[in-house]
Amino acid sequence: MLNLTGKNIVLGITGGIAAYKAIILLRQLKAAGAEVQVVITDAAQAFVTPLTLQVLSNHPVHNNLFTPQAQSGIDHIELANWANILLIAPASADFIARIANGLANDLLATLCLATTAPIILAPAMNQNMWLHPATQSNIQILKIRQVQILEPEMGIQACGTVGPGRMLEPEAIMAALASNVTKNTTQDTNRLYSNLDSNLDNLNSNLDNLRPEQSLTNTKVLMTAGPTREPIDPIRYISNRSSGRMGYSLAQALEELGAQVSLISGPCALSVPLSVERLWVETALDMEQAVQTRISDCQIFIATAAVADYRVANPSVQKIKKSLQSSEDTLTLNLIKNPDILAQVASRPNPPFTVGFAAETQDVEAYAKAKLDSKKLSMIAANLVGAGQGFEVTENALLVLWPGGQRNLVKQPKLSLARNLARLIAERYHAQIKS
Ligand code: PMT
Repeated sequence: MLNLTGKNIVLGITGGIAAYKAIILLRQLKAAGAEVQVVITDAAQAFVTPLTLQVLSNHPVHNNLFTPQAQSGIDHIELANWANILLIAPASADFIARIANGLANDLLATLCLATTAPIILAPAMNQNMWLHPATQSNIQILKIRQVQILEPEMGIQACGTVGPGRMLEPEAIMAALASNVTKNTTQDTNRLYSNLDSNLDNLNSNLDNLRPEQSLTNTKVLMTAGPTREPIDPIRYISNRSSGRMGYSLAQALEELGAQVSLISGPCALSVPLSVERLWVETALDMEQAVQTRISDCQIFIATAAVADYRVANPSVQKIKKSLQSSEDTLTLNLIKNPDILAQVASRPNPPFTVGFAAETQDVEAYAKAKLDSKKLSMIAANLVGAGQGFEVTENALLVLWPGGQRNLVKQPKLSLARNLARLIAERYHAQIKS
């Protein structure tokens, strides 16, 4: 069960019939050990009473921007600093529009501006309101600002129609929290906010300039990212310098183009947008197995992971001790080759559009071309690594090659680079389908 002991959660409730589910959610958050304070909008009070929420949360319910009871008299700053997570369920169309525009016209909206904690929204509304371009565009803006959106589900709506717009059930919201709560630290959020400028630079192009051949809606993408760890004994392993940033940025960029992204990740300390499915693995063999079980219904496969080419043949089950008696100064490890996951996928009978990465310390173009040809890839993105380049750092440059073409993507922040690469992948994918 999800353990939220020590977590301070502000539960925001806006006006909508789904507000009744917030009561169940509140009980589940409390049962998981969280300290919860509730903020309700005026409209929400038509659906749930502050008294119910006060009794269940054990705290006064907040609604006013300025209250004499608040220690500083400024409730929103105290609450903003107190929160580890700001979870708003349900989030109405009106509320989403207000925070997408940075309005601070009630306590809950102001809190969204004042907090540095991760913000998670569970929208709920009539299907036409959800599908309206205005709402969808507001959602895109919020996603780019790293607000996590728990997409509503299909079903019978309060108005009697069937369609998308029902708020997720409290159990599903708890499950989404579980996948993020351990990873999404305030430090992460600060880092994400520091990327905001470059995110906003890309906002217009993301929203306005998306041509049909750059869209990846209804497309399943499977990706690998991060390093693998190959055990030597229970406490030591062989690994590499991959931080996972390039792969995680690409997962986000593909998701922004509408793709359904599954990310098989080696150990790293990054968070993903909630709609990206993430599966943790440790070794190359784990990664191979995870890819094999998920690849069959994917249209695109992208291997950004820095997979260890070799693993220790017989990892010791006990810690290898430094021999005190022996005068030997060396220890020999027997390494055997790991399977090439990318080559396996590309050689399937009906392979997906398969994109490899090439990390090279020299002769980037020649080596990348050789990998493109020998592994029969649809595309390869090559980068110069080592000496502060490619791995670990926040910026990167790529030379992208495909049969009959190539493009240079100049050095830039990894998220912006990933967005350019994602569009190129979408274009080449659509071109391949047409041919
Ligand atoms: O994670 P970051 O710090 O942001 O750094 C990003 C990166 C440098 C790791 C990334 O941009 C990158 O280059 N990833 C691929 C690294 C790599 O392993 O390259 P390679 O040239 O050794 O492998 C070629 C391709 O085969 C890669 O797509 C790799 O995922 C794949 N491969 C390799 C070995 C193996 N056993 N199985 C594989 O699938």
